[in-house]
Amino acid sequence: MKNAVDRVEKVGVGLDKTISQEQKDMLVQAALKAREHAYAPYSGYAVGAALLTEDGLVYTGCNIENASYGATNCAERTAFFKAVSEGHRKFDAIAIAGGMVGREPEDYAYPCGVCRQIMMEFCTGAFPVLVVKSQEDYKEYCLEELLPFGFGGASIR
Ligand code: THU
Repeated sequence: MKNAVDRVEKVGVGLDKTISQEQKDMLVQAALKAREHAYAPYSGYAVGAALLTEDGLVYTGCNIENASYGATNCAERTAFFKAVSEGHRKFDAIAIAGGMVGREPEDYAYPCGVCRQIMMEFCTGAFPVLVVKSQEDYKEYCLEELLPFGFGGASIR
């Protein structure tokens, strides 16, 4: 499969920065590790995310469920909110891994619609999203592919 950078060029979204293979490997590993902290007693589905800031820091997140189900926070949003609350607003990539608690992921973990919308708030269409099955097996998309014709700040300015 062609990587997101090639596809981004095809769809005409400007790409300011690419990330290295080492950075991808590191993000994938961090997302898999972050799953271990998932608090998912209701769904039993553990998600980990690792978000790379423009200045090279990694913020991880896990899903945090609640008895009032709607109060649950996804792993990706945990990572974004941690980073933004620490002063970061520019991001280079995110990796996401999900699967049943206590087991290895059986499939790629695609972000939910709300998390795609949060990405839209802080990232360009070229933002790389790595969906992870294992350290060696992941796919790369850009945000524009996952959220085409998205609604963002530019729409209301
Ligand atoms: N979940 C995430 O953490 N990220 C997503 O993008 C999809 C869903 C979590 C929320 C809930 O704790 C569990 O997965 C099952 O929906």
